[in-house]
Amino acid sequence: MKLALLTVLATVGAVKVNPLPQPQSIEWLNENAIVFNPLFWKQNTILKLLKNQSLATSRFQQARLKGENGAIDSITITIENSSIPLQLGADESYNLIIDNNAINIDSVSTWGSIQALKTLQQLVVYEKGQFFIEGSVRIEDHPNYPHRGVMLDSARNFLSVKKIKEQIDIMSLVKLNVLHWHITDTQLWPLQLESIPGMIEGAYLEREQYSKNDVEDIINYAYERGIRVIPEIDMPGHSRAGYINVNEDVLACQHSWWSNDDYSLHTAVEPPASQLDILNNETYLMVEKIYNEVSGLFQDYVFHVGADELQANCYNYSQLFVDWIKANLSRTYQGLKSILD
Ligand SMILES: *[C@@H]1O[C@H](CO)[C@@H](O)[C@H](O)[C@H]1NC(C)=O
Ligand SMILES: *[C@@H]1O[C@H](CO)[C@@H](O)[C@H](O)[C@H]1NC(C)=O
Ligand SMILES: *[C@@H]1O[C@H](CO)[C@@H](O)[C@H](O)[C@H]1NC(C)=O
Ligand SMILES: *[C@@H]1O[C@H](CO)[C@@H](O)[C@H](O)[C@H]1NC(C)=O
Ligand SMILES: *[C@@H]1O[C@H](CO)[C@@H](O)[C@H](O)[C@H]1NC(C)=O
Repeated sequence: MKLALLTVLATVGAVKVNPLPQPQSIEWLNENAIVFNPLFWKQNTILKLLKNQSLATSRFQQARLKGENGAIDSITITIENSSIPLQLGADESYNLIIDNNAINIDSVSTWGSIQALKTLQQLVVYEKGQFFIEGSVRIEDHPNYPHRGVMLDSARNFLSVKKIKEQIDIMSLVKLNVLHWHITDTQLWPLQLESIPGMIEGAYLEREQYSKNDVEDIINYAYERGIRVIPEIDMPGHSRAGYINVNEDVLACQHSWWSNDDYSLHTAVEPPASQLDILNNETYLMVEKIYNEVSGLFQDYVFHVGADELQANCYNYSQLFVDWIKANLSRTYQGLKSILD
């Protein structure tokens, strides 16, 4: 008899939903389903943002049509300090308490409340024509890591703004908070720059370009979902498209054959070969313009400079490098590289 009772008790806690990632603490207080009136999604901007997320939309629109009387139709959000900016280390903790009478969220920053709303969204179950939460529940949560990112490469295959937003939606649902946007590479420069208009000749097609408005659109879309966007302008390796259209002098080995059976002779890890010539002063003038403009476009305090996969032999194709070595035979490629470090 006792055993049977235990079995029954064990199934009482067996709710269907499991928020992802698992909250630090989740305590189901009972199993009395709470029907809720999705009309309240209309009343708050943060909630509208949430409603806008692709997976949420169909659910909540259907729910509104069925709107239940007497269900929970409000939510109380308390944010200690809504001026805390969305930057590395922003407090994302929150408490979410749902019972038969109310939904309460409190958090230190806006970003915590946004995370709480994502959890709330995951708690909603649709079954037999009804939208409900399976019981009263108390959640305390904070992320284990301040940087939870995805790196997106739009420099080998162009990705439309729409596709990038879809990626942001999916990141948002699982509470990832950093989009590391690898915008440019050897093959492609899809970003329009006012300060160096010719760079955009490094785009594949006229329609495959990011305007200033596109960038702002993506940043705002991510921001509203608590996601930072970190731009990466990869250099001095992985640099060719755009530069080659504007001023070839800032490049080294751009016409070399990238590969050889001997790895030490490679001028690139993959074709086409090309690196910024770091002994050319014009390179720095160009990079200064790029950094000034791109850092103005993005709001994050972090800027990714790339700096990966430099190939030593590429610089043997640079006259400046050859002359630099000739001028002092004690100089080496490692010595040149240390200019960057
Ligand atoms: C929700 O999405 C619609 C359609 O994409 C858009 O016009 C609207 O600005 C979005 N609302 C918010 C608050 O993001
Ligand atoms: C709120 O956060 C901002 C930004 O971090 C900070 O400057 C300000 O002092 C905070 N206000 C309070 C009352 O803590
Ligand atoms: C680069 O600038 C430095 C400092 O102004 C100057 O000494 C050097 O000759 C310049 N090099 C080239 C290749 O123009
Ligand atoms: C490249 O130049 C350096 C410095 O002059 C030299 O030591 C090295 O052997 C060269 N490498 C190749 C593959 O020519
Ligand atoms: C030549 O280069 C070496 C290595 O960088 C350096 O220690 C030395 O001072 C240089 N000699 C001259 C005359 O500049």
